[in-house]
Amino acid sequence: MRKPFVAGNWKMNTDSRSSVALATGVAEGSVESAGQNVDVAVCPPFVYLRAVAGAVSSSSVAVGAQDIYFEEKGAFTGEISASMLKDIGCTYALCGHSERRHVIGETDELVNKKLTAAIAGGLLPILCVGELQSEREGGQTEEVVARHVKEGLAGLSAEKVSAVTVAYEPVWAIGTGLTATPDQAQQMHAFIRKLLSDLYDNKMADAIRILYGGSAKPGNAAELMSQGDIDGLLVGGASLKAEDFLGIIQAAV
Ligand code: PGA
Repeated sequence: MRKPFVAGNWKMNTDSRSSVALATGVAEGSVESAGQNVDVAVCPPFVYLRAVAGAVSSSSVAVGAQDIYFEEKGAFTGEISASMLKDIGCTYALCGHSERRHVIGETDELVNKKLTAAIAGGLLPILCVGELQSEREGGQTEEVVARHVKEGLAGLSAEKVSAVTVAYEPVWAIGTGLTATPDQAQQMHAFIRKLLSDLYDNKMADAIRILYGGSAKPGNAAELMSQGDIDGLLVGGASLKAEDFLGIIQAAV
């Protein structure tokens, strides 16, 4: 039985005061539900990670980074390594979020290096995969998602991949208010699980958590998570209000 997992991706939002207020609200509100029945994480901007980690430290809410660099240290101006993230209390790291792929220009090869470095550094990566609207319309959804999964996990053993959570986030549903229907999402989650079983084995594919992301909110969370292969949600906009995010966590319990 896979434990549900709800993660909030704050993207480039909040400031020093509001990040701590939001984290405190989530930590206080999820005292009842988080931990035992559902894993919860928040992913603030890098500069607020430390303060947010402090604000949630006495709760079971974990902290994740929105990105990571694959080198451990050295002359890589502006980049942040796995060991730095571990050092300030991070548990998770998003790898290959669609905004990094499509706005910043990250390739599958770079995503794979980041994910590999995250695991080597003791972090739990969340590999984000998903097709553009034009790719869905062109009938390429499975091809694109399969490439993101295969290339993202390239070179990793089943044992290493057991540290990974996959997030299926159709790009056309991110921040648009257009959510994939539970059927559309379930279909892709089942496709990803089958692919993992073909690439590795059944046991591993059965154990790995696959989250859905793309305009998830309290009103659609329960229905999405009632699908057999949807193990939780990666939430953007609705994670910026404690009340909404807590509503989504409740739906996962
Ligand atoms: P959204 O973002 O919930 O605002 O659509 C999801 C994500 O990008 O992870």
